[in-house]
Amino acid sequence: MLMEIPKTLKIEHDELHAELVEATKAGGRTGQAANAVARVLHDHFVKEEQYALPPLGILKRLAHGTVQPDMAEVLQMTDRLEAELGTMLVEHESIVAELAKLKDAASAEGHPDVALFADKLMLHARTEEDVLYPTTILIGRYLKLMLAG
Ligand SMILES: [Fe+2]
Ligand SMILES: [Fe+2]
Repeated sequence: MLMEIPKTLKIEHDELHAELVEATKAGGRTGQAANAVARVLHDHFVKEEQYALPPLGILKRLAHGTVQPDMAEVLQMTDRLEAELGTMLVEHESIVAELAKLKDAASAEGHPDVALFADKLMLHARTEEDVLYPTTILIGRYLKLMLAG
């Protein structure tokens, strides 16, 4: 079965990435701070798209009551997130710390759009911590129960 990140989340990631690239072109302290965000963000985004977010692609089917044996391939992703959750959360701390500096620089240098972007990406990280990561982990635990029975 093909595990795909829900389109809405993929669009959001792509948008955040594009806005960050724009911010790096702002010059001054803002551009430097945006580059610092990009340095801590890149590998993190790649990991999310590899294993933290694709399991969410079967959430709707699960909620409709569909459970298929080939959904088991999602377990290697959900297990990996469960094992690396602590690291992912530490990465969020560094990302948010760099975003706070970006927001300061952008506000001081008259780039309200970049300051807004910083807020948006901080909110994105909170949504992942509060909703998306836990959901991915629960998908794994639920599937293990359902496929064992
Ligand atoms: Fe993300
Ligand atoms: Fe994240």
